[in-house]
Amino acid sequence: MKKSIADIDVQNKRVLVRCDLNVPMENGRVSDATRIDASLPTIRYLMEKGAGIILMSHLGRPGGKPDTEFTMAPVAGELSARLGADVQFCASSAVVDDEVQRCAEALAPGEIMLLENLRFRPEEEQNEDRFSKQLADLADIYVNDAFGTAHRAHASTVGVAQYLPAVCGFLIKKELDFLGEALDHPKRPLVAILGGSKVSDKIGVIESLIEKADRIIVGGGMAYTFIKATGGHIGLSLLEESSVELARDLLEKAKKNGVPFLLPTDHVAGDAFKPDCNVRIVDGVDIPDGWMGMDIGPETALRFACYAGEAATVIWNGPMGVFEFPAFEGGTLAVARAMAESSAITIIGGGDSAAAVNRFGLADRMSHISTGGGASMEFLEGKVLPGVAALMDA
Ligand code: 3PG
Repeated sequence: MKKSIADIDVQNKRVLVRCDLNVPMENGRVSDATRIDASLPTIRYLMEKGAGIILMSHLGRPGGKPDTEFTMAPVAGELSARLGADVQFCASSAVVDDEVQRCAEALAPGEIMLLENLRFRPEEEQNEDRFSKQLADLADIYVNDAFGTAHRAHASTVGVAQYLPAVCGFLIKKELDFLGEALDHPKRPLVAILGGSKVSDKIGVIESLIEKADRIIVGGGMAYTFIKATGGHIGLSLLEESSVELARDLLEKAKKNGVPFLLPTDHVAGDAFKPDCNVRIVDGVDIPDGWMGMDIGPETALRFACYAGEAATVIWNGPMGVFEFPAFEGGTLAVARAMAESSAITIIGGGDSAAAVNRFGLADRMSHISTGGGASMEFLEGKVLPGVAALMDA
């Protein structure tokens, strides 16, 4: 357990808050504000408590140098609109300098400022000591609320924590409560639904969940590497040749542990990877040459949805098919709907599955949608997140 902002006195203190405001942008505007909204409870709490608030985040991967394409300016505007309060944007591409320091010192209780993109400085990703200290000098207290970046050991997530009392914000606390509880004390049965394209991206998660879940369901592109490993014919479907052996080992491990490991038994197949390709339903595990599985089939969708409905906890990461193409969204939609209608604790592990439930308008019917794709994966793998480890114990 880590200390949170609720455990310390922040009144009239300057508080440096690391958020993950790494939001998608289109034509210089924020196109999805989910992460901004997720950071509001901590910011509002600090405003109410009369803290001077210094926000910081990265945006994209500018590679350690200033780049106007990645400025935080539009994020400041969006944040301000959502908070209904002024957010002073510090446009210095040095992120911290004398002027920024003066602005921080002049903050009145409840006032907010936002620093420029932390990754304009190479020292951020190097977790460099002097930069960490410069950041720390802006404030009296450090709050990490950037769950999405907690798997990165950077100056703003780790280095700075050695110079200030360091606690977590409400978002990190909520993420750890949901994900931690689901792994350590799940309401059973615990069903894990995993999808996405690559087995190699999910090895750690599958290995970890084989130890914890009561049932593992695999769909999406990566299912075809597993089907190949069981001797099926997959036509043109996505195959990670180098992971076939590994897929076989994972299936073997699940069997040894007595954990049912379910793969698709019918498919929506296309004859090309494009939205307007020819489409057919293929039964069994024999996809004809010239065709590729691009979604789980209707019977599989029904079966997977049934298991999701019967579970007491469901963790879902990775779509069941190419849901961006309407002809292949059915499986992902069926799983999302089953989770939305279920009384189970439903947890979405960020990334594409979060995008899918948002697109289907089902986001507010899930118990928890993680704001961290990579971070939630590493957490589910059982890895220590450096940005969390750096904080004070409760
Ligand atoms: C994310 O979007 O996953 C986080 O903001 C971390 O970004 P990164 O992968 O560029 O470190």
